[in-house]
Amino acid sequence: MTSSYRITLLPGDGIGPEITAVARQLLDAVSRRHGFSLVYDEQPMGGAAIDATGEPLPASTLEACRAADAVLLAAIGSPQYDSLPRQQRPESGLLGLRAGLGLFANLRPVKIIPALVEASSLKREVIEGVDLLVVRELTGGVYFGTPKGRVEADGHVRAFNTMAYSDFEIDRIARVGFQLAGERSGRLCSVDKANVLDVSQLWRDRVEAIHAEFPAVELSHMYVDNAAMQLVRAPRQFDVLLTSNLFGDILSDEAAMLSGSIGMLPSASLGESGPGLFEPIHGSAPDIAGQDRANPMAMVLSAAMLLRIGLKQEAAAADLELAVERTLAAGFRTGDLMAEGCTQLGCRAMGEQLLAALEA
Ligand code: IPM
Ligand code: MG
Repeated sequence: MTSSYRITLLPGDGIGPEITAVARQLLDAVSRRHGFSLVYDEQPMGGAAIDATGEPLPASTLEACRAADAVLLAAIGSPQYDSLPRQQRPESGLLGLRAGLGLFANLRPVKIIPALVEASSLKREVIEGVDLLVVRELTGGVYFGTPKGRVEADGHVRAFNTMAYSDFEIDRIARVGFQLAGERSGRLCSVDKANVLDVSQLWRDRVEAIHAEFPAVELSHMYVDNAAMQLVRAPRQFDVLLTSNLFGDILSDEAAMLSGSIGMLPSASLGESGPGLFEPIHGSAPDIAGQDRANPMAMVLSAAMLLRIGLKQEAAAADLELAVERTLAAGFRTGDLMAEGCTQLGCRAMGEQLLAALEA
């Protein structure tokens, strides 16, 4: 009997629908090839959902995600929604989805693809061989802390958020970090600001405590400002970086640029149980939406992570990754990565090349 999996697709906004179409074609082809089938349930999310229902994360979308074996999200957001109250903006829908599915662990791998070494703004000798993983806590910290808000008093306006972590939230993300470090080169660097913040001191204390469960992993600690510097100075020193929600948000964008384009990087968000959420780390790129110019590769690589981690279809995942590498090695590029001597393609044509590489 062939296995069949339910994938909830969230194309979202901007370039989302274009890159979703490419990912779906590749998923169809690779699943046929490996003898399993995928059933898609496409749901509105972000700005698209605001337009359709008035809310960025309709209850029906969250339900469909809960019912899936895995969720594939493209991108959300557009400047046109920036003036809405915070709870009604696309970004709040994404935070609601993360919280609603209990996705506390966000994995953001940054691996330099040899064909793209020249695309980075950093020197070849600095970035060659970089292969790191940001493990970012995703359902706590200052993103979700209370109290928060905006008040007026004594003729002034004051706004505030709370950066807070409980021990169990740190413990569970630390375990994910140690576990993954153990499966890689065995080094975990925990990022904090323990020289200033109480919340970071607890972070450091708990990471030290959980280290006892993983004695084979080498643990180091780094202040977040230094980590930001070391990432561009000597990124090869890092294997797994363990971060809180906000620090990981910032450092993962910085780490992404090591690879030349944020258009190349996938991510996975996982909970204790239930479906994972897989999405490119880039945004919805409203400036190029609908123009067939988007780079679909991060989305295809996110689909590969979905196959590997979400569905345990390792061989199919590896095939998608190989198709991306082959297509780049053959000199095909979208505009974001275009270089001399390469062939520039739009999103759809890139999808066709990826399909051809998959079937080669
Ligand atoms: C990310 C994004 C989101 C975040 C935004 C869109 C809410 O920047 O996934 O990194 O800040 O987590
Ligand atoms: Mg971000």
